[in-house]
Amino acid sequence: MAWNTATSTPITRRACWLSDYQFGLRLSEQGNVVSVGDGIVWMEGLPSAAMDEMLVLEDGSRALVFHLARQRIGGILLHQTDRLTSGTPARRTGRRVSLPTGDAVLGRVVDPIGVPLDGWPAPESTGRRDLFAASPPILARDFVQRPIYTGCKMVDALIPIGKGQRQLIIGDNGVGKSSLALDAVIHQRGRGVRCVYVLIGQKRSSIAATIQTLRAEGAMAHTTLVVAEATALPGLKYLAPFAGCAIAESWMEQGHDVLIIYDDLTTHAQTYRELSLLLRRPPGREAYPGDIFFLHARLLERSTCLAASMGGGSITSLPIVETNQGEISAYVPTNLISITDGQVYLDSHLFAAGVLPAIDVTRSVSRIGGKGQHPRVREQSGRIKLDYLQFLELEVYTRFGTHLEAGVEARIKRGRVLREILKQDRLDPRTIEFHLAWLMAFNEGRFDAFLPEQVAPGLERLAERIRDAQPTLDTPLDQWQQIVASAFAEHAPP
Ligand SMILES: Nc1ncnc2c1ncn2[C@@H]1O[C@H](COP(=O)(O)OP(=O)(O)OP(=O)(O)O)[C@@H](O)[C@H]1O
Ligand SMILES: [Mg+2]
Repeated sequence: MAWNTATSTPITRRACWLSDYQFGLRLSEQGNVVSVGDGIVWMEGLPSAAMDEMLVLEDGSRALVFHLARQRIGGILLHQTDRLTSGTPARRTGRRVSLPTGDAVLGRVVDPIGVPLDGWPAPESTGRRDLFAASPPILARDFVQRPIYTGCKMVDALIPIGKGQRQLIIGDNGVGKSSLALDAVIHQRGRGVRCVYVLIGQKRSSIAATIQTLRAEGAMAHTTLVVAEATALPGLKYLAPFAGCAIAESWMEQGHDVLIIYDDLTTHAQTYRELSLLLRRPPGREAYPGDIFFLHARLLERSTCLAASMGGGSITSLPIVETNQGEISAYVPTNLISITDGQVYLDSHLFAAGVLPAIDVTRSVSRIGGKGQHPRVREQSGRIKLDYLQFLELEVYTRFGTHLEAGVEARIKRGRVLREILKQDRLDPRTIEFHLAWLMAFNEGRFDAFLPEQVAPGLERLAERIRDAQPTLDTPLDQWQQIVASAFAEHAPP
């Protein structure tokens, strides 16, 4: 029901009668297109137009006010017909850009203004949401204290993520960034977390592959895809992450936990730079406009965990950023590293060496996720992280062919086995109970006598035992120890 906020009374709709009509002076502004090209449109004659307001052009095109100059208005096109030329009349709508949200868009593929791209009818939503809504105030927020599992061994054990956290996935191109994010989405199947996957400026073939993978893995039922492909208008690419965020927020306010992936924000920043330069905004570092930090900060500030009094929903976001030749000190990556609560760094050398997922533990961190980790997992993984980091340092010495002490050699051997354990195929997310099992097995030294090629079959036996016994994280420790021991009892390595 709509409410009159001034009088706090419901607004009742009633039939309009001709006798009720009142004659009066009504003013409306009419503008004209001055020039159009590259996805932007310059207009004049709309003195009251406001930033982020939707404009309708007479040929059916639609634009968003993006730049207000003294004489002219710069707009970004969100829909363009062939008939749009200079001189086309333009009028204000008085509305900000919005899209349909809520359950109607679940399982759908839509563009950033809600137009369906999956061939089905337009989503019949009961509510629309402003793309540029403000982020929740501080008092509405809660601390990040519940874990969200991605199914990836390295992330869940060593770089844990909490619900409401913003964790950057960073790396060169083709190192498995999207695969990691996709696995995280697939792992939410049946776990009550809804997902939004935002694809910005990707090739149509990669978009089709992503949709196909999600459908094949049964993950579309809890996911919405917001797509602005490479050939889309730059305005749509610019709006895509905000559209995904608006959808996620509508669910968060209903008390749901949401996971959102922005794939990727480098393309988004480049689109924003393109639009800003075309609209003659002054360029700054790397030719990005000065407000590029604000653009991403205001997007990622909307991911949070709401307090119980506000419904207790959350938005966890995994923005992806691409680096060039591992250069994490470039402008956009450093901005995003400072905005987010941690990063998962994927390394091209590890990828080339076949260590998949190619996560570089030394350069990855989760600043707040540890608070949500189950105490038992935290205890077991804390010991492993130290072992692994020491091994990576010691391994450097083996390159010189120097003779090593027996103790050092044993630690290097143990580290190599751990690296084998941490390898994981894509589309193979694992449960947190399995993670606890291998952490315990490793810490108890059950893998110590294994050769690297014996590790994968050993892990499979362990996974089978966990599936049969179905322990939870709170199952008593002695039962856990028995389950883990039983997986190694019959198949002790030579
Ligand atoms: N854990 C994994 N196991 C096996 N193969 C993997 C794994 N992770 C990624 N790959 C493979 O690596 C390739 C690149 O992965 P992906 O497309 O996810 O990388 P990306 O960093 O998102 O690339 P881009 O920069 O082009 O977006 C794919 O062919 C994928 O199958
Ligand atoms: Mg990718």
